[in-house]
Amino acid sequence: MEKIIMYPGESGKETMNWKDVQGQHITAYERRVLVLGSGGREHALAWKLAQGEGALVYIAPGNAGTAQVGTNVNIKLSDFESIKEICLKQNIDLVIVGPEQPLVDGIVDFFKNDEALKAVKIIGPDKRGAQLEGSKAFAKDFMEKYDIPTAKCFKVSKDNLEEGYKFLESVSSPYVLKADGLAAGKGVLILDDLQEAKGELGKMLDGKFGAASATVVIEEFLKGIEVSVFVLTDGEHYVLLPEAKDYKRIGDGDQGLNTGGMGAVSPVPFCTSEFLNRVEDRIVKPTLKGLKAEGIDYKGFIFLGLMNDDGNPYVIEYNVRMGDPETEAVMTRIEGDFVDMLFACADGRLNEVHYAKSEKTAVTVMLVSGGYPEAYQKGKKMDIGPLKDIVAFHAGTAFDADGNIITSGGRVIAVTAHGDSIEEARKTAYREVEKIHFEGVNFRHDIGLDLMNIR
Ligand code: AMP
Ligand code: GLY
Repeated sequence: MEKIIMYPGESGKETMNWKDVQGQHITAYERRVLVLGSGGREHALAWKLAQGEGALVYIAPGNAGTAQVGTNVNIKLSDFESIKEICLKQNIDLVIVGPEQPLVDGIVDFFKNDEALKAVKIIGPDKRGAQLEGSKAFAKDFMEKYDIPTAKCFKVSKDNLEEGYKFLESVSSPYVLKADGLAAGKGVLILDDLQEAKGELGKMLDGKFGAASATVVIEEFLKGIEVSVFVLTDGEHYVLLPEAKDYKRIGDGDQGLNTGGMGAVSPVPFCTSEFLNRVEDRIVKPTLKGLKAEGIDYKGFIFLGLMNDDGNPYVIEYNVRMGDPETEAVMTRIEGDFVDMLFACADGRLNEVHYAKSEKTAVTVMLVSGGYPEAYQKGKKMDIGPLKDIVAFHAGTAFDADGNIITSGGRVIAVTAHGDSIEEARKTAYREVEKIHFEGVNFRHDIGLDLMNIR
């Protein structure tokens, strides 16, 4: 049977199993990029990569939004062999890994060790580099060794539980307990009461977060305001991407449960050039120096979760990928050829790259499913738009059998608006948010409000 390959933008609805496109050669674009992931972050990356001269973009597995800017390929991120196959069949030049799990699982090592994939570039750290996010204990040891400002900590396993209790007694409330390994963003507990902290420490070591909490890092509580700073490095050189603030709690006024992120603002008013210079001198440069000294060849994103304490930056955590929903704000402020920037990164030529940041402020509001971040509803029909003056990045969306867009995840769609001020961008974002409907829809009403009077 003859298959019709639809080019990006033709219908906006194509979703193909990779087997359907085997052997077909698409020549519309010179550069071919594969983005791995299926969230708002990946839609924003794919959207940016497809802009202008851009690239022919494939997204695996993607969502209903990524299908508007590229071709979705239905493969699992744990299936490295199928990822390899699509790279070879579609002559992919460059792979961008969205989420952390494949990096921690060694997808970059897999690419580097496979003769057939030698010509395919990949953006992301290898398994050792990914430990910066994959193991909090590794990250803390690294920061200690290279003198990078962070909270004091103590590492506990079942063998030294008594010492762990003593450390808790020696610091003041609130108490911060972190599962060493990846725990789907849920592995951090912050507790006011010492007895409760001791109890939770025991439960974590007993497997509250599975193997991820066999080791627990107890940290001193840092005060200040959080900010996400994004670095793209080729191991030698680096570029600072626009920074952003994330809103993690489900409710207005930072109330309620933690989520994957309910919105973002970029730029962040308190991130002055003086503060960012400190971030570069005290954190970015020593981090890159440390990676080199450890023999870790790091080509990819480093997302610094920072605390700004009175103008001084401290690392709360390293992530080895871009943030979500920060990327949905950040990508819209990068002016210039992002595809070029990533190729330069892969080739170790980031020093040749100069790009501009838009002067505009981006405000991103995330629309989520009813019930999220606890058990949530799925499969709800969506009525979107028509929308204007904003970009809507899809996260948990899919097509039903009739081609209608339905909800398929907790975080559903992110609306990014721009303005000369946070106030202006907020106005546009919230005006358009009101035009997206699905049963149970929820969003925060206060994204950016806290930043409006900070200078
Ligand atoms: P993490 O998964 O490490 O980003 O932690 C989740 C959230 O917990 C962070 O975004 C902070 O809001 C908070 N947090 C983590 N570590 C600390 C700390 N040492 N002091 C204060 N807040 C923290
Ligand atoms: N927005 C936080 C994260 O991506 O981890």
